[in-house]
Amino acid sequence: MKILPIRIFPDPVLRAECDLVTRFDAALSTFVNTLWNTMKQQPGGIGIAAPQIGISKQIAIVDLTKKQTATSPIFMINPKILASAVSRNCVVREGCMSLPDFTANVIRSETVTIEYLNLAGETIRHHAVGLEAICVQHEIDHLNGQLFVDRVSSLKGDVFRRKRYLKE
Ligand code: NI
Repeated sequence: MKILPIRIFPDPVLRAECDLVTRFDAALSTFVNTLWNTMKQQPGGIGIAAPQIGISKQIAIVDLTKKQTATSPIFMINPKILASAVSRNCVVREGCMSLPDFTANVIRSETVTIEYLNLAGETIRHHAVGLEAICVQHEIDHLNGQLFVDRVSSLKGDVFRRKRYLKE
């Protein structure tokens, strides 16, 4: 089982626009497996995007099966949010494996309709609500070189340092 290290901000790969996936072959499946295994290694990991393990391609996973709000993970290739389906905004507290020391109050759409390709290259349209909608937006942001701290209204008021309980 292959696992790759999580890239941490300010690694430039986190700021790159990811390339579209054009080949749906065994190498893609292998990579998605690595992405999945790497996410599973992280405590509480509910989503991951390819640039977080150093690969600038439009591939991301959202997995809310542990939260029991979804029955299966979503493997998204070349995902996009359909502009016609943007709903009203809400504010949510987010974190990210690539910014481990911070959380922030982020502005997101409450629901989103997305279109993506599955591992077989078939087009899937999906309406996401609740935590799934938030997570989908967070991961699609990664594919566009965006991080959750880009979506706060005030860097001073809306970004928080995580408390660490250090061993003495
Ligand atoms: Ni993230």
